[in-house]
Amino acid sequence: MTKSLFIKTYGCQMNVYDSTRMADVLAPLGYRTIETPEDADMVILNTCHIREKAAEKVFSELGRLKTLQKRKARSGGRMILAVAGCVAQAEGAEIMARAPHVDIVLGPQTYHRLPEMVAAASRAAGRVLDTEFPAEAKFDHLPETAAPQGVSAFLTIQEGCDKFCTFCVVPYTRGAEFSRPAAQVIAEARHLVASGAREITLLGQNVNAYHGAAPEGGIWGLGRLLRSLAAMPGLLRLRYTTSHPRDVDDELVAAHRELPMVMPFLHLPVQSGSDRVLAAMNRGHTAADYLRTLERLRAARPDIAFSSDFIVGHPGESEVDFLATLALVREARYAQAFSFKYSPRPGTPAASAEDQVPEPLKAERLRRLQELLEAQQRAFNLSQVGKTLPVLLEKPGRHPGQLVGRSPYLQPVHVLAPQRLIGALLPLLIRGAEPNSLAGEHLESAA
Ligand code: 5AD
Ligand code: SF4
Repeated sequence: MTKSLFIKTYGCQMNVYDSTRMADVLAPLGYRTIETPEDADMVILNTCHIREKAAEKVFSELGRLKTLQKRKARSGGRMILAVAGCVAQAEGAEIMARAPHVDIVLGPQTYHRLPEMVAAASRAAGRVLDTEFPAEAKFDHLPETAAPQGVSAFLTIQEGCDKFCTFCVVPYTRGAEFSRPAAQVIAEARHLVASGAREITLLGQNVNAYHGAAPEGGIWGLGRLLRSLAAMPGLLRLRYTTSHPRDVDDELVAAHRELPMVMPFLHLPVQSGSDRVLAAMNRGHTAADYLRTLERLRAARPDIAFSSDFIVGHPGESEVDFLATLALVREARYAQAFSFKYSPRPGTPAASAEDQVPEPLKAERLRRLQELLEAQQRAFNLSQVGKTLPVLLEKPGRHPGQLVGRSPYLQPVHVLAPQRLIGALLPLLIRGAEPNSLAGEHLESAA
C-alpha cells in the first residue's frame, strides 16, 4: 500500500541531501513523496538552526500543520508529524512539550532509525524523541540505492565540525567531525552517475577537512578523493562545499590545477576582514592568510572565481573592523557572496558576549556590504558576456522551448534548446547578463 510523504526542507544543501535520504529510508515502508502537505500520511519538517528565529518559524509551521492533521483525522486518516534537522537536535524536548501533536522528533544523526520511529509512532500514542549521536554511523545504515537526483546531485562525504567558531551552532547540532570512508563515497557516486547525474557536489559542513578511510588503508584528504572521482566514466563535473580557509592544503590546490572537471568556483567563507574580529570568532586565520589562499588557488587555476559568507555585527565589531571587511572584499573580488547580520544562537559563546552590536548598526553595515558585493556580482556576470562557457543543461526553463543549466560558476544560464539536450554539457555563447543569471545561445541552433 502506498502512503504519501511530504518533506519541507529548510537551510543548507546538507539538509536537502538529508531529505532525499529520509525519503529513501521510508520508501520500503511504502512512502512516496508528494509536493504539498494537504493530504499527506506523513509530514517531515527538516529544520535549520543556523540563523534567525528558527524555532519560532518551526512552531508556527507546526501550528498550520495541526489544522491539516485534524482534518485528516476527521476523514478517518492519520498524518504522522515529524520534526528533523538542527532545530530538532537543539530544542527536541521543547518541541515535544510545546507541540503535543508532533509524533517524532529526530536529530540529523538518527535518520536511519526512522522506520523504527514510524512504527513506534503508529502504535497508539507512541511519541518518539531521538536526538542522540548514536555510536553506529548513520551512513552505514542508509540504503545503498537512492532515488535519482537528476543531472546535478549532492553527496554528503563529511559531517559535523570541530572548529567551534564562537557564533556557530553547527558543532552542537551536527556534532564532531566525521568523514565517510572513500569506498562508500565512490560507490554512492557511481550509483548517482548510473541514475543520470553528470555533476556531483560533495557536501560537508567542513568538506575540505575530509579525512576518510582510503580503500586500501590509510587516509585520503579531499584532494585525493577528487582525483579518484574524476576518473569515473560518465561524470563530467565535480564541486564541493562548504570549505574552511584553514583546510586548503596543497593536495587540494593541486586538484584544482590538474583536474579540469573540478569546477573553477569555490565557496570559501571568510566571515570578516578584521583580524581582531576573526580572532574573536575563533576562526584560526587572519585576513592576509585568507587572501594568500585565494592567490594560491588563482595561481593553480587562473579562471577560478570565489564566493564567501560574511557576518556583520559580530560582538565587538567596530566601524574600523567593518571597514577592514569592505577592504578585504575589494581585494578578493568575489563572483558572488552571502552576507548576514550576526544573530545570537543560544548556547554559543558569542551569544553571551557583552559587547553586542545594536541592531540598527548591523542593518546599516549589512546594507553597505551588500551594495559592494552586489556590484561585484554584477561586474562578474557582465564579464562573462561575449565568452563561450560550458553549460550543463539541467532542466526545462520557465518559457516554452527553453532550458536552464549552470555555468562553471553556478550561474543559471537560460538557452533555447530542445529537451533532449538535458544532461548535456554544451558550450554556450553568453549573450546577456542579469543580476542572478545569464542568457546563452547554443551556437548550432544559432546557425
Ligand atoms: N549569525 C549570523 N550568521 C551566521 N552564520 C552562521 N552562524 C551565524 C550567526 N549566528 C552564517 C555564516 C556561515 C553561514 C552558513 O551562516 O556566515 O558561513
Ligand atoms: Fe560553524 Fe565555524 Fe564549523 Fe563553519 S567552521 S560549521 S562556521 S563552527
